[in-house]
Amino acid sequence: MSLKLGDKVPDFVADSSEGPIKFYEYIDNSWAILFSHPNDFTPVCTTELGAVGKLMPEFEKRGIKVLALSCDEAERHKAWIEDIESFSEGKGKVTYPILADPEREVAVKYGMLDPDEKDKAGMSVTARAVFVIGPDKRLKLSILYPATTGRNFSEILRVIDSLQLTANYSVATPVDWKHGEDCMIVPSIPNHTANELFPKGFRTVPLPSGKEYVRLTPQPNLP
Ligand code: BEZ
Repeated sequence: MSLKLGDKVPDFVADSSEGPIKFYEYIDNSWAILFSHPNDFTPVCTTELGAVGKLMPEFEKRGIKVLALSCDEAERHKAWIEDIESFSEGKGKVTYPILADPEREVAVKYGMLDPDEKDKAGMSVTARAVFVIGPDKRLKLSILYPATTGRNFSEILRVIDSLQLTANYSVATPVDWKHGEDCMIVPSIPNHTANELFPKGFRTVPLPSGKEYVRLTPQPNLP
């Protein structure tokens, strides 16, 4: 199955490094991130999980429930966590669960498998998938990286800032936008409505076409 933006994400029950998890119950009414790894005791995954450990205060600040997945069994995850924390010199504590998916049940539901990447038993393993899920349990963003390319979780936090902002305000965020920078009013909002929606005002950037579609406004959810 491949999930499309806006789809309700599938529920599941799976074992994890912190015991069995009922997904919908676990995420409750929060935003959530579910991201997958090919296998335990692999080098790139070890760096990624430590990096997420270091960034946990940032995920918590944004109200994001964090959930990793790797195809191996939960007991193996627990042994691997020791390596991850040692590799990150204690700074990347794995304070979030790693789901176990030895039968690939979750991976199939979410379309995470990489048909070209196999484990020692010849079974397909998960690619580096990222799903950001809203409080309505609908898919807000998905990214898929191959096993050979580690992700940039600071970029994922930046994207979450944009998703959480644009879920509540009629703005979009421009290239390389970061929290605190100006946003763009979405094209469907006419100027007279923009005046009401954006009390801090907006400025229209003059363009050769004469069309007034680039309208910048201060980030609306800041004081
Ligand atoms: C890794 O995590 O280093 C990795 C896993 C599977 C294939 C390639 C790299």
